[in-house]
Amino acid sequence: MIQKISVIGAGTMGNGIAHVFAQHGLRVHLIDVSQAALDKALATITRNFDRQVDKGVLTAEDKAAALSNITAFTELSAIGDADLVIEAATENAETKLSIFRQLDALAPAGCILATNTSSISITRIAAVTSRPGSVIGMHFMNPVPVMKLVEIINGYATSGEVTEAIVSLSRQLNKVPCVVNDYPGFIANRILMPMINEAIYSLYEGVAGVEEIDTVMKLGMAHPMGPLQLADFIGLDVCHSILQVLHEGFGNPKYAPCPLLVNMVTAKKLGVKTGEGFYRYTAGSKELIVSDRFK
Ligand code: CAA
Repeated sequence: MIQKISVIGAGTMGNGIAHVFAQHGLRVHLIDVSQAALDKALATITRNFDRQVDKGVLTAEDKAAALSNITAFTELSAIGDADLVIEAATENAETKLSIFRQLDALAPAGCILATNTSSISITRIAAVTSRPGSVIGMHFMNPVPVMKLVEIINGYATSGEVTEAIVSLSRQLNKVPCVVNDYPGFIANRILMPMINEAIYSLYEGVAGVEEIDTVMKLGMAHPMGPLQLADFIGLDVCHSILQVLHEGFGNPKYAPCPLLVNMVTAKKLGVKTGEGFYRYTAGSKELIVSDRFK
């Protein structure tokens, strides 16, 4: 029975993951090297619980109980006697491999080591540990408290027992688990990223403007966000690095990132997080304004 969770990384995904576990009564140790990142994460989690209280999804007591389930730490050793560790650090292979080497030394026997990676090979991460059977992908979607999917990725050596435990835990969080195998991009990003890249190519080639491309996909295909807005939401640097994983992993030129995407990443126009991508973002505003560059 999984009851004690440690989440490594207090960024957007880490704080969302801590939120849902705490909301469902599980004890969470939220760990980040930066105290400032932890403070920011706790403030975000509190704000997101407030939204749920305002909507009547949670009571004020539920919120207080959930918040009391989360404790913040700056040392990896705070995983202590965790049943499950979920790594949600920066999407960088060397960072993740280094964390998993340390987790292998620190985590108790029987602890499941999961990663929220969106594209780095689970098999590669597992291979730096002495317990590849206990390593698995547990890929949540942003915003974590809202999105129902957990993409569960079996590495080459992941044991059936570990997969079953993560499937059942995902259901306990009121999420819908989908189990897939470890090939580049898994399923979510193997399908999503070529769509986003094709939308960027359509803009680059002058087929249509930002608003037109997004409106076609929102109103014609019932997507909640158009692909360019979604790219800004995910982060253009993240989209670029996932496309590189697909391109290198399959050796197929169809996955090569569009030169416009490469330019925008180089120019640090990364979307919501830098205030500008295909759209321009003003703090607190929900209005979508196309970036001057694309008018
Ligand atoms: N925490 C808690 N609740 C939240 C929240 C958060 N962080 N963010 C939004 N919500 C809630 C809101 O309170 C609201 O609740 P009600 O329905 O009860 O009113 C609901 O979610 C909708 O939010 P908003 O009204 O603010 O805005 P919206 O209707 O425009 O929806 C959205 C926002 C949910 C983000 C929607 O636009 C959407 O679904 N977008 C697509 C998201 C998506 O595709 N995510 C996957 C990205 S890919 C990824 O994450 C993985 C990867 O590997 C790259």
